[in-house]
Amino acid sequence: MTYILGIESSCDETAASVTLNGRTVLSDVVYSQVDIHKKYGGVVPEIASRNHILCVTQVIEEAIEKADIKKEDLSAVCATVRPGLIGALLVGLSAAKGFAYAIGKPLVPVNHLHGHIAANYIANPDLKPPFICLVASGGHSHVVEVTDYNEFSVLGATMDDAAGEAFDKVARVLGLGYPGGPLVSRCAEGGKASIPFPRPVQGLDFSFSGVKTAVINYVHRLEQLGEPIVKEDIAASFEEAIVDVLTSVTIEAAKQKGMKKIALAGGVAANKCLRASLLEAAKANGMEMYMPPLSLCTDNGAMISCAGYYAYQSGMRAPLSQNAIASL
Ligand code: KG4
Ligand code: ZN
Repeated sequence: MTYILGIESSCDETAASVTLNGRTVLSDVVYSQVDIHKKYGGVVPEIASRNHILCVTQVIEEAIEKADIKKEDLSAVCATVRPGLIGALLVGLSAAKGFAYAIGKPLVPVNHLHGHIAANYIANPDLKPPFICLVASGGHSHVVEVTDYNEFSVLGATMDDAAGEAFDKVARVLGLGYPGGPLVSRCAEGGKASIPFPRPVQGLDFSFSGVKTAVINYVHRLEQLGEPIVKEDIAASFEEAIVDVLTSVTIEAAKQKGMKKIALAGGVAANKCLRASLLEAAKANGMEMYMPPLSLCTDNGAMISCAGYYAYQSGMRAPLSQNAIASL
């Protein structure tokens, strides 16, 4: 019986979870700061750090209480150490260090993106590496070959903006609010994807900054001409461009590697069109598609606990001097 505590604080969610043997979630507590950052139109790093401090202890205690275990039952304490907002990461990591030290259990470092990938293990008990995983979040977009539980190789990536970042920026241009992904997606539901925004792909790498600029230019041009701006059509066309690019590079990566299993991860994995598009493309190519439920797509503690379980099993440990690292 391996009970693992996972702590996540890399952006604007303070989260903690206890899993059993990696894939059984006993508790998953997420405190989202989204309402606090909404009025600024994006995450304000210093405000995020301060709010993590206010609730991290309570979130951890609640996760242990809900799991109905004693602190001493834990085998290890895992925390996101990278990538993310440095101040935010430091809060969760420091709490994890203090907690691990107090109960005399090892501290295990977790890469946030490995956590996103691991969300697929929770949702699909029989999923095993190797597989191709598209990781699309607010700060990162990568096509990853998951060769083993702790072995990853990046096959393709965005050359500039992450997918979530593009959604958030377009939401701002259209005056939809924050976080942009779900709002653009909802707006797109009533629109026609009639505007041909660019879809730049080079090998397995891709770019989203041009799509974003194309949306901005399109809106400005209509404003100058005094013509009506149909937000729904813009949102639908933008969403389709992003989804087309992400679908094509993921399928291409799987083909190149002769892989028949594809998974999806990260906040953008919550996007309905992306889920449908990948599912259809995978089916058409005789591939199996795995994706976490929406609650496990955006940041949570269960994914960190699950990734931490596999890191713990492989002997990975962090010293109490472990620093947080902003970069990937
Ligand atoms: O993984 P995540 O929760 O945090 C990071 O690690 O960055 O991802 C957050 C990102 C945000 O950019 C948000 O706009 C995007 O995921 N997102 C979505 C959807 N839900 C969240 N993007 C598109 N469609 C969605 N339904
Ligand atoms: Zn994330």
